[in-house]
Amino acid sequence: MKAAHLTVAITGASGAVFARELLRTLEADERVARVHFVASENSLRVIAEELGVSGRTDLLDKLLGAAPAKTIQHADLNIGASIASGSHPSHGMIILPCSMGTLAAIAQGLANSLTARAADVTLKERRPLLLCVRETPFNRIHLRNMTLAAEAGAVIFPVIPAFYNQPADSTEMARQFVYRVLAHIGLSQPGAYVWKPDE
Ligand SMILES: Cc1cc2nc3c(=O)[nH]c(=O)nc-3n(C[C@H](O)[C@H](O)[C@H](O)COP(=O)(O)O)c2cc1C
Repeated sequence: MKAAHLTVAITGASGAVFARELLRTLEADERVARVHFVASENSLRVIAEELGVSGRTDLLDKLLGAAPAKTIQHADLNIGASIASGSHPSHGMIILPCSMGTLAAIAQGLANSLTARAADVTLKERRPLLLCVRETPFNRIHLRNMTLAAEAGAVIFPVIPAFYNQPADSTEMARQFVYRVLAHIGLSQPGAYVWKPDE
């Protein structure tokens, strides 16, 4: 993939460290030209709880640890943002982590926030939509919504990291999970763990 344009949304599910590693990896990837970033209002609460990063001001700088070079942030209320239209070029969208609330909005086609609208557009344009859902246990509504979203073309990519690579800490675990997500949309990462690479 060359000069990739991607959308990344963070919602209020647990797992802010995964979102941070995703944003950092995309910023560092020279094949990626533009990242459109949306943080739901409720994600801010979780980001504060889990990463100690508070407020919307300079959120990207704080998550990236530096000023963004290619990532631009859109307000979740801004349904007039570029990514709300199918005419805007995109190679896909990743929602990491994806709450059960946002999953429900997407599965029902509500398009009532920029995240839900951009996901709706991604599906109608037949572009990759990866929903990195996070909840446990799942109730029947969650399961039905995952089926609905999958039937509409989304990939349900639950936040279930691997352990067979023996990650040293939660950051490494999150990073390897992010590498699997990116490999799925054609952006394999050089540091990705491979099981039995010589076989
Ligand atoms: C610390 C914290 C952790 C949460 N973890 C989850 C979770 O793992 N999965 C989930 O679906 N909701 C979780 N929630 C609840 C969501 O934030 C809540 O349902 C919210 O309305 C989701 O809104 P959003 O999808 O617009 O971000 C959590 C809330 C808090 C405060």
